[in-house]
Amino acid sequence: MNGTETAILAIESSCDETAAAVVVNGRTVLSNVISSQIDIHTLYGGVVPEIASRKHVERINQVIRQALAEAGRTLQDIDAVAVTYGPGLVGPLLIGVSAAKALSFATGLPLIGVHHIEGHICANYIAAPELEPPFGCLVVSGGHTHLVLVKDYGEYEILGKTQDDAAGEAFDKVAREIGLGYPGGPKIDRVSKEGDPQAIVFPRGKVAGSVYDFSFSGLKSSVLNYLNSCRMKGEEISVPDVAASFQQSVVDVLVSHAMTAVEEFGLTRLALAGGVASNSALRAAMQEACSEKNVQFFCPPPILCTDNAAMIGSAAYYEFIRGNVSGLDLNARPALRLGSR
Ligand code: KG4
Ligand code: ZN
Repeated sequence: MNGTETAILAIESSCDETAAAVVVNGRTVLSNVISSQIDIHTLYGGVVPEIASRKHVERINQVIRQALAEAGRTLQDIDAVAVTYGPGLVGPLLIGVSAAKALSFATGLPLIGVHHIEGHICANYIAAPELEPPFGCLVVSGGHTHLVLVKDYGEYEILGKTQDDAAGEAFDKVAREIGLGYPGGPKIDRVSKEGDPQAIVFPRGKVAGSVYDFSFSGLKSSVLNYLNSCRMKGEEISVPDVAASFQQSVVDVLVSHAMTAVEEFGLTRLALAGGVASNSALRAAMQEACSEKNVQFFCPPPILCTDNAAMIGSAAYYEFIRGNVSGLDLNARPALRLGSR
């Protein structure tokens, strides 16, 4: 620790990105190295957990070395080692957790286990140094769709979450069905720009008895039914129209849930997080809805929305200053819930 400076080496390997970063005081990113495995998983149409684990093993040491080098640091200038320990794929998580534990054991540096979703939320602290809790955050990724009240650093209340598919999962599945391939989100985002979002009216998923929970599986089925019916009738399918109409349905639901929370809780700040937060239509719609209600809108740049280790370094800092460090018995927790340690 150098005066008031706390430098954290953070590691992220919960899915298909092997990532390491050095972050100072939770907000300043000295390096953010991401080695993506997308090319390999594209061959299989989705993430293959066993292949992901093997690739993490091959790459993790190099990625950590590179993160330190780009930050101009050695392990002697680092104050703590942080790692995502859940939720995620157990094999991939174990690689990051093992690497972080080995580093902590060898150097004596404190170890900080970080919740992956908390990391996504904290990406906003990096992008907007003035942002402080409380605020609302919509976390939309490949594995999660959570509407969260961030009451304080490390203090979260989950207002609603998906009852079936995550938003990103719906993007990936629909993209596969319309022949766009993996990963679906960015491809649907791109092709939707040439389509008409009003061309086909797909359902806006609702969950009975809950204004904040999400459901995307009905929408996905509705897209499949539409495609099948066109094929049976020999009608031409406009991929841009299907993509844009599907995307519009997801965006409408996400925005309307978030705005309900804004009203009910009198929120003055709303943030987006997770891979789907890099969706251009979602960002634009959320920005517009927030402006109408005089709500300050925050959204990290796309590189901090999809999986990265800088966000883990930010979350780790706020855990560290609150005294939350982990022991060397830290284990991968594939189904870890937000708010539990
Ligand atoms: O946060 P993330 O990198 O990994 C998880 O924690 O799941 O999110 C990945 C998800 C994938 O489902 C991907 O298709 C989606 O984010 N995604 C997008 C966009 N970029 C990534 N979805 C919609 N539009 C995008 N531009
Ligand atoms: Zn993620």
